[in-house]
Amino acid sequence: MIYLDNAATTFPKPDIVYDTVMNVMKDFGANPGRSGHKLALKAGRGIYDTREKLASLFNIKNPMNIIFTYNATDALNLGIKGFLKKGDHVITTAMEHNSVLRPILGLEQKGVKNTIIKCDQKGFVDLDDIENAIEANTRLIVTTHASNLTGTIYPIEKIGALAKKHNIIYMVDAAQTAGIYHIDVERMNIDLLAFPGHKSLLGPQGTGGLYIKEGLDVIQMKEGGTGSKSHELIQPDILPDKYESGTPNTPGIIGLGAGVQYILDKGIDNIMKHEKELLKLFLDGLKLIDGVKIYGPLDPEKQAPVVSINIGDEDSSEISYILDNVFDISTRSGLHCAPLAHKTLGTLERGTIRFSIGLFNTKKDILSTLDAIKKIAIEAM
Ligand code: ALA
Repeated sequence: MIYLDNAATTFPKPDIVYDTVMNVMKDFGANPGRSGHKLALKAGRGIYDTREKLASLFNIKNPMNIIFTYNATDALNLGIKGFLKKGDHVITTAMEHNSVLRPILGLEQKGVKNTIIKCDQKGFVDLDDIENAIEANTRLIVTTHASNLTGTIYPIEKIGALAKKHNIIYMVDAAQTAGIYHIDVERMNIDLLAFPGHKSLLGPQGTGGLYIKEGLDVIQMKEGGTGSKSHELIQPDILPDKYESGTPNTPGIIGLGAGVQYILDKGIDNIMKHEKELLKLFLDGLKLIDGVKIYGPLDPEKQAPVVSINIGDEDSSEISYILDNVFDISTRSGLHCAPLAHKTLGTLERGTIRFSIGLFNTKKDILSTLDAIKKIAIEAM
């Protein structure tokens, strides 16, 4: 089987991640931060270790400013809805996933205005358009780091500088980049960073997180037991407890820590190099196949390892089905939860077939996939 659906979730994970999840459950699966016995303390320490590893990966000064969530969507909802208030204005782009667009559009009913910046056909946004959209009450800019449809990479450092210049908070959706590209919240002026644990950070599903810059006023989305200040009836104001009520996903979070450690050991530069090489091989091969329409930048320097295509006039779901059932290649087809991005590309009706490369793919995987696409394209002509 060739797995090319890593933008949805990475598979497989490193063995150490599977082993860690199992070992946590078997060896010390107690409730962290509550009881004071040895197992509970070990569970709490394990969760803190994951926070420290993530802080090191993203250059976050205080690990306690990382809030664990179920996924990137959960983190985006917390950051967007917790920060914006009635009368505020928010700027985002047409290439965003519904996990950004739906919370922002949902807030219209609560009196939060928005501007969605149009992008060009390759998915790029013009920084001048962002700057021109700034209003007196603009409090937040939210952009993806890379599109989940075309892989188009956004200049987050430049957008961060622009936000800082205008005293606006900047939130980045790193769903497709955390664990592949360098992300430095200090240098890039990122105030809110949402990331999934189960994609390129190589953790289990049900994990993710939100970095909240020190001092930023974000309202929690839930209240409950935190194991701290238990005599008080109001939610504690300390991080991360303010946002992390209830028993956490201890095996998942510690498993995520194993994934992040794997990345730190391998090095982002090496991971990026490997994925870029495979992306280049794939794009170069695709360009030679008649009848294939490739969307996005078509440039490994300007795009994350996510490639959307269509073949002739064929239905994207039909092609994905053939890839799976005839060639044993896993892809995603149809609409990719990013309707305005599809509108930008002109693929809102038929969708695309999306191939997303991961750390464990090989050159052989890419060459076999190109062969399969060639065979399908010849049949389709
Ligand atoms: N957001 C994930 C994707 O793009 C699930 O496939």
